[in-house]
Order: sequence, then structure tokens, then C-alpha cells
Amino acid sequence: MKSTFAVLASLVAVAAACGDDHDHAHGHVHAKREFPSAPLTRPSRPLQWDSVNIIHTTDSHGWLLGHQKPSFPEPNYSGDFGDFSSFVTHMKELALQKDVDLLLVDSGDLHDGTGLSDGYPTGGVDAHASNEFFKQLPYDLLAIGNHELYIYNNTLDMYRNFAPRFNGRYLSSNVNITIDGVSRPVGDRFAKFKTRKGRQVTALGVLFDFTGNDFNTTVQPVEDMVKEHWFTEAIKDEPDFFLLAGHMPVSRDNWPLIFNAVRAVHPLTPILILGGHTHIRDCRESLQLDGRSMSLESGRYMETVGWMSAELPAPKIHRRHNGEDHDTKNITFTRRYLDPNRVTYEYHTGRGNFSFDTAWGQSITRGLEKLAKTFDLSFQYGVAPHDFTLSQSPFPSNNSVLSLMAEAMPVALTVNNSRASIPNIMITNSGSLRFDIYSGPFTKNDQLTASPFADSFLYIANVPFSAASQVLPALNNAGANERRDIAVETELYARGYVGARYREWVQEMYQRDLETEGASARRAAANLTLGYVTTDSCPGVGDDTPHTPLAFFDSPDFIASASPEVTDDAPIDLVFVDFIESQLIQILNQVQSEKVFTTEDVGTYTPVLATEILGIFAQQAWN
Ligand SMILES: *[C@@H]1O[C@H](CO)[C@@H](O)[C@H](O)[C@H]1NC(C)=O
Ligand SMILES: *[C@@H]1O[C@H](CO)[C@@H](O)[C@H](O)[C@H]1NC(C)=O
Ligand SMILES: *[C@@H]1O[C@H](CO)[C@@H](O)[C@H](O)[C@H]1NC(C)=O
Ligand SMILES: *[C@@H]1O[C@H](CO)[C@@H](O)[C@H](O)[C@H]1NC(C)=O
Ligand SMILES: *[C@@H]1O[C@H](CO)[C@@H](O)[C@H](O)[C@H]1NC(C)=O
Ligand SMILES: *[C@@H]1O[C@H](CO)[C@@H](O)[C@H](O)[C@H]1NC(C)=O
Ligand SMILES: *[C@@H]1O[C@H](CO)[C@@H](O)[C@H](O)[C@H]1NC(C)=O
Ligand SMILES: *[C@@H]1O[C@H](CO)[C@@H](O)[C@H](O)[C@H]1NC(C)=O
Ligand SMILES: *[C@@H]1O[C@H](CO)[C@@H](O)[C@H](O)[C@H]1NC(C)=O
Ligand SMILES: [Zn+2]
Ligand SMILES: [Zn+2]
Repeated sequence: MKSTFAVLASLVAVAAACGDDHDHAHGHVHAKREFPSAPLTRPSRPLQWDSVNIIHTTDSHGWLLGHQKPSFPEPNYSGDFGDFSSFVTHMKELALQKDVDLLLVDSGDLHDGTGLSDGYPTGGVDAHASNEFFKQLPYDLLAIGNHELYIYNNTLDMYRNFAPRFNGRYLSSNVNITIDGVSRPVGDRFAKFKTRKGRQVTALGVLFDFTGNDFNTTVQPVEDMVKEHWFTEAIKDEPDFFLLAGHMPVSRDNWPLIFNAVRAVHPLTPILILGGHTHIRDCRESLQLDGRSMSLESGRYMETVGWMSAELPAPKIHRRHNGEDHDTKNITFTRRYLDPNRVTYEYHTGRGNFSFDTAWGQSITRGLEKLAKTFDLSFQYGVAPHDFTLSQSPFPSNNSVLSLMAEAMPVALTVNNSRASIPNIMITNSGSLRFDIYSGPFTKNDQLTASPFADSFLYIANVPFSAASQVLPALNNAGANERRDIAVETELYARGYVGARYREWVQEMYQRDLETEGASARRAAANLTLGYVTTDSCPGVGDDTPHTPLAFFDSPDFIASASPEVTDDAPIDLVFVDFIESQLIQILNQVQSEKVFTTEDVGTYTPVLATEILGIFAQQAWN
């Protein structure tokens, strides 16, 4: 049990840590590439519009300037939030022309992920500035995410500066903040409103059973929320449809608890669910096989904009007027996963390059560029010679970002360090790396996206090399026991760690492609480009633009620098990322019995933080 929690503590700390307030003085600014740098494939077919339509974003994590690198498949996601704003404006116009409802919904996680959210100067609040741009879009409904809750000040900022803009439509049904000793919802618990076409909506905004939240914030388990008096009251009257947004995945989580609670009262009322959190594209046609509900999850990092359409009956009030009965037929739903780029946006709005931009959208783009400049996100550490990826290349290999980290640690952590000449082994965990590094300028923004967690490094001196060299394999075997594995997985999941689910998804699409005879040949013949290839449980093809899947290679949980060339009994420095301390000491005492190591033996190795390693390395190696 003890080691279970040690593993937990380690992996969990990675998931939890976030933010970076390092302020790099100055640098030259590169112009933002406003237009796709590669010719982009058009979507496969027009969207299906029905009487109620929804544009969905989730887990944007600060990626409001879109994906800017020319390497595959980044140009597919090159649309920025200004482009998205223009898209939404034109789609709203189309909805007017078609005389149907169109809603814009977000499912949370606005913090932690890029320089725009995390590159603020010392003393600032994460995502405060980037959220100003979110506030400029006409969202009809938003739900709080777990990344809004790791740091109290971030939650407070959402309460004070974000929620008020949305006039009761920023929902935190089961999430409270305590201010001056008083606990209260961060946003609102529910919302009731009418669509343009007069449909009455009851909306919730629910967070999964997250346990990694900061002091003075509260997450009520979903199971308890549905028993609350306010909940019963909120769902009592029958609306035309329920709109359930939430930072909770549509598969393998607690949506059925809410769904069943609503169904117990309203057996037939349409239920539209917009989920998030696991960073994947997913859809379930019906949670309970009743043909009158659908749930959609729309990826991550502005790599996906979700579309849902539902052929709902006319508003009840009109039907009653016409003496029509309660409708009981299955509802026709469609869903689509859009690659957010100008080509996609122009195609679906019927606009061309020169008629697409709205003044409002352009001002958002300019504002984001200005913010990037203010935060000095183009500060360049060096030029990456080629792409380094998390899972598209094997570990170890020259193209692995994990191998790069293993190589960078001994360079960066020994700068200005009096222990530099003592042989060492340096260990960190692979979860500390969050995004690929692409060929070309390696900037402050790239450093924040690739290695966002500000952990420090500790060391134990005079560890015999023979013992030190056994620590990494032992760490990587710690999860080998299957039962313990499940306990660890469960706890990590509760703490907000979603890497495992995302990797599982990407691995599955790659495996499926390998196993389908002729699939890759067919894709090659059709000139398909790299990207997500979604298989979900809804009918028809979900991806708006067909792709060929990215390669996937698994990697170990922990990585280490190359071993020094010394004899077995040579004393070396065992250097490690801070949050694995107790686990590492325990393992060290298992692999040797000469000395009992304790926390007394641990010291700070360097003031350099994990977030700085790649930058320092790039300054030396990539200039
Ligand atoms: C995706 O990116 C690739 C590589 O740049 C490009 O060839 C392709 O056209 C893009 N597809 C879309 C839909 O943007
Ligand atoms: C939170 O914000 C307040 C003022 O906005 C500031 O005084 C305080 O230092 C911040 N706390 C942390 C932990 O950043
Ligand atoms: C929680 O907030 C109260 C004031 O409302 C404060 O006194 C207390 O220190 C806070 N707790 C923590 C752990 O920050
Ligand atoms: C959330 O705040 C409300 C309103 O102050 C309070 O009634 C409720 O008990 C709080 N819920 C939790 C789980 O703390
Ligand atoms: C309605 O939908 C349910 C669930 O998807 C399905 O099992 C059932 O066969 C459908 N009924 C009709 C009449 O299509
Ligand atoms: C699209 O328009 C912009 C100016 O608004 C221009 O810079 C760009 O070259 C145009 N791209 C294409 C493909 O026409
Ligand atoms: C990896 O890089 C090293 C050093 O640049 C080089 O010697 C080696 O051949 C490369 N390995 C592969 C498989 O490309
Ligand atoms: C190392 O020391 C030099 C000289 O004091 C300083 O300019 C540099 O920033 C330091 N590097 C790091 C990584 O601390
Ligand atoms: C694929 O690309 C090749 C070479 O550019 C072209 O000749 C062929 O027509 C393309 N195939 C399709 C299906 O677009
Ligand atoms: Zn997320
Ligand atoms: Zn999340």
C-alpha cells in the first residue's frame, strides 16, 4: 500500500503542478503565421443542420492562437480564436437564414497549456489574460473544468472576473469556492433559458469526481449532487430539452447518474450532453438506449471543434397550441469533429479567404498576438533541428522528446553547479512532458507547451553506482502488479491525470489501422493526411476531414540520463525530480543494504526547475 501511494504521489504531482511565472527578459518577436503554412484538405462534406445545432469546444487549455508549426499534423489545427470567432458569427447568420437554433457550448479546462495562459509575469494569475478573449465569444453555456481548481487564485479569478460576463450561464453545478469562510458555487448551479426559436432549456454544468482541487474549493461527488434538493427542483419542470454540459468524459464516467436522475422524472424529454476532460473525440448515441439522447466530447487543445445536430420537435408551447401529443419517436442526431483551420471554417460557412474574416474576429487575433508579445512568447532559445514527439517515435530514439529530455537534464541541471564534475544519474517522469517539439524556432511558448510543470530537482550524494543504476528499472516496474495498477489508475484519474486515456485512444486508432488489411494503402491512394481517425459509438463517420492515423509508440513512466562510465562501487549523485522522493528512497533501500537512506540524505541539487531544462539545453545545443 505504501508504495502504491508513493507511485501515486509521484504521478499525481505531475498532473497537479502547473503554471510558470518565469519571466524571460526580452527577445525578438516573430510574426505570427496567420494563414495555414501548408495547403489544407477540405472537409469531406457539408454539415448536417437540424432544428437544434451546437458548436462545442472543450479542453482548450490556452491554445487560442491555434497550432502554429508547419510540421504534420499541426497545420490542421492552425485556426486561431479570432478565426473561430468569425466562424461562429457566420454560422449564427446561417442559423438565422435556416431559421433554426444554434448554440455555442464549452466544457471547461481553460487553464494550463500554452504561453498565453501560463506565460504571465510573476504575480499574475494563470489564464486571466487569455480568458479575456474567451469572454469575447457568444457562448450560450460553459462548464467549469478541473484545471480551474488546482490553484485557489485561478478559481477566485473565474468567480470574480469570468463568470459574471456570462450572466448565469457559467455553470459549476457541483463545484464551490470558499471566500471569507463562505462556500458558494463558482458560477451558477443550473440555468434555464429559451433559445431563439423559443425552446425552453434546462442546463447543468457538472465536473467529474475530481479530488486534486486546492484548499477552499469543493467538488461534490456527482452521486451526491443528484440527491440535492436544488437538483430535484431544477429538473422538476419539463423543458423542451435538457442541455447537460460538463467536464466529464462521455464514456466510462458518471453521466449515467445524471441521465438516470433526469429520466426518472422525464422519460422522454430529449437530453443533449456535451462532455470533456479525456482529450479525445468521442460520442455515444444514447447513454441508455432510449433513442432520445446523445453525448459528444470534442478533443483537446483546439485540435477539434465539435458539431452536434438534433432534429427536435417544435417547442412544447407551440405543440400544445396545435393540440399535438408528446412526441415519442427516436430523435435524429448527427455529430462531426471539425479540424479547426480556416479551410474548414470557410468551407462550412461558404466563405472565401477574403470574405471570411469579421472585424471582431480580426480584433481577437490582433489582441492575442499583442498578448503573446507582452508575454514575450517568441523569445527564442534555439532552433530545433527536427521534430521530437511524445508518441510518434519510439523511446529511446533521436526523434523522441523523452530521449531529448534524458539528454538535456545533464546539460541544464549542471549549469553553475559545483557538483557538475561528480558523476550522476538523473531521473524524471515522462508525464512531465506534455507536448511535442517541432522543427524550427524553439521559443518560450514551446517550452511552456512541452514542459509546463515547475518541479525542482533533488539529489542523494555518494550512492554506489551499482545501486543507483537499479533505481530506474525498479521505478518502471512499480506498476507491474496488476491490482496495484488499477488502484493507481483510479487514483490518478481522480486527480485529473488523463494522459493514459488519451494515449489509449491514439494507440487504438493506430493499431486498428495496422490490423485492417489494405487500410494504409487505401489511405495513401486517397492522399489522406495525418490526424485523428475516430471510431466512436455513433453512426456514420465522425471526422469532418478523413485522416490517416499518427504512429504510436509506448513509453516508460520514468526516464533517466545516460549512465556514467564508472565502476560498480563508485559513489555518484543520484538526481531526481522532487515529487518522487519518498518512492525513490524506498526503492534505494530495497536495491542495496549497505546503508539506510532517509530524507536526511536528500538535498537540493540546483535551483533550475523542470520548466527551464529544455530552454537551457536549446541555448547551448541549438544555436
Ligand atoms: C493537415 O496537415 C497536413 C500537413 O500539413 C496537410 O497536408 C493537410 O492538408 C492538412 N489537412 C487539413 C484538413 O487541414
Ligand atoms: C493570490 O492572489 C492574491 C491577490 O490577488 C495575492 O496576494 C496572492 O499572493 C496570490 N496567492 C498565490 C498563492 O499566488
Ligand atoms: C481558506 O480560507 C480561509 C478564509 O476564508 C483562510 O483562513 C484559510 O487559511 C484558507 N485555507 C487554506 C488552506 O488556504
Ligand atoms: C455550495 O454552496 C452552497 C451555497 O452557499 C451551499 O449551500 C452548499 O452546501 C455548498 N456545497 C458544498 C458541497 O460545499
Ligand atoms: C430507437 O433507438 C434505440 C436506441 O438507439 C434503438 O434500440 C431502437 O431500435 C430505436 N427505435 C427505432 C424505432 O428506430
Ligand atoms: C488570404 O487573405 C490574406 C489577407 O487577408 C492573404 O494574406 C493571404 O495570402 C490569402 N491567402 C490565400 C490562400 O489567398
Ligand atoms: C542519432 O543521432 C546520433 C547523433 O547525432 C547519430 O550518430 C545516430 O546515427 C542517430 N541515430 C539514428 C537511428 O538516426
Ligand atoms: C549561470 O551563471 C551565469 C553567470 O552568473 C548567468 O549569467 C547564467 O544565467 C547562469 N545560468 C543559469 C542557468 O542559472
Ligand atoms: C493523390 O495525389 C497524386 C499526386 O499528387 C495525384 O496524382 C492523385 O490524383 C491523388 N489522388 C486523389 C484520390 O486525389
Ligand atoms: Zn483538459
Ligand atoms: Zn480536465
